[in-house]
Amino acid sequence: MLHAPARAALVRPARRAAGRVHVPGDKSISHRYALLGAIADGQTRIAGYSAGADCAATLACLRALGVAIETPAPGAVHIHGRGLHGLSAPPASVDAANSGTTMRLLAGLVAAHPFRTIITGDASLSRRPMRRIIEPLTRMGATIQADEGRPPLTIVGAPLHGITYELPVPSAQVKSGVLLAGLHATGRTSVIERTATRDHTERALGAFGVTTEQNGTEVSVSGGQRLRGRVLAVPGDISGAAFWCALAAGLPGSSIEVLGVGLNPSRTALLDVLRRVGADVEVAVEDAAAGEPIGRIAVRAAGRRGFVIDPAEVPALIDELPALGALATLLPPGEVVEVRGAAELRVKESDRITALANGFRALGAEVVEYPDGFRIEARQTRGATVDSAGDHRLAMAFAIAACGASGPTTITGAAAVDVSYPRFFDELERLTSPGVSR
Ligand code: S3P
Repeated sequence: MLHAPARAALVRPARRAAGRVHVPGDKSISHRYALLGAIADGQTRIAGYSAGADCAATLACLRALGVAIETPAPGAVHIHGRGLHGLSAPPASVDAANSGTTMRLLAGLVAAHPFRTIITGDASLSRRPMRRIIEPLTRMGATIQADEGRPPLTIVGAPLHGITYELPVPSAQVKSGVLLAGLHATGRTSVIERTATRDHTERALGAFGVTTEQNGTEVSVSGGQRLRGRVLAVPGDISGAAFWCALAAGLPGSSIEVLGVGLNPSRTALLDVLRRVGADVEVAVEDAAAGEPIGRIAVRAAGRRGFVIDPAEVPALIDELPALGALATLLPPGEVVEVRGAAELRVKESDRITALANGFRALGAEVVEYPDGFRIEARQTRGATVDSAGDHRLAMAFAIAACGASGPTTITGAAAVDVSYPRFFDELERLTSPGVSR
């Protein structure tokens, strides 16, 4: 069906997709459990930790900050917590690699430690905006230097004081970075968000024994609360599952079931969009772990209508927009999908608006690019060579779109999937193999 060497993947057309799949551990939750485990008292044992390179970068940074971490089996991570204020000065700069979450959350932790930490990133991360985290942490008392607000960040930690901070851009990363700093600050730290973002940090803090208060749009934490190490299991990543949901909703006759997936309501907006497409979507919450609901999602192709994403929906869908763009290309010719209010896509791992438009156009879809979104009119697509722009979600989006093309597609830079979903191409092959090539 396909062939995925390090740099390029060949994806052949698929008639339909079917099967059951377990997705990798949730990336957002994995980062948070590792970071909180590092500052907890005692040991934290995590199962189902994301296999992606982003979450490995968080572990590498924590090790450089003096945290002993064992990884005895795939997905198993044992962290020997250093307690609040317990990190130690790193011998060299620490590398967040491709991971914005690592950089922004870790910045909040090291801002409270009285030494200098330089956090670097790869070429993609080095282009991403960091003023949004520098500003509140500076207001709390840290000194942070960055050229034009871009990485590397040089953070000189200090005793911090609590602040009330209203997020200018909806961002769970910034909210979380400020709350992690707030744990180490005097007094109370509050973050006000006009638009709700994923709340994994709040839930994880609760699981580690920290009290947070939610008051309307404001979440607060009082500094000095100790965290207790604990045993945790990470649910499957719904943002990885989004690609299978898109494939199942877009290829006629398809049916995919995702098992053990996180169903936190701040992450499930995708399912509402799939219903608008007309897909048959079944969701069952079967369990909860550390305050995170877990269950199964089953998606069957039906309807296959175009859809519009309202700007107000964007923050809850931001990571799923590449998958939804891929779904747009699989709809019957003439169906239209429009996304506006998503300028943030331009400052993700790549400029996702331009890079998605380039890839989908190469495949034959009609794409209009807006400063803050895109419009895709479905056409019968053809095989082409498309480039991931080094972005894991684009490599996966192009692979999903390629399943509906009339000929084979080569995706260059396909190894980018390692950032969140190393086995993505193996799973794609398995889920589409019952289909007969067109
Ligand atoms: C994340 C928050 C989102 C998301 C990213 C992960 C997190 O970023 O796009 O993939 O784990 O907090 P922003 O905080 O920049 O919106």
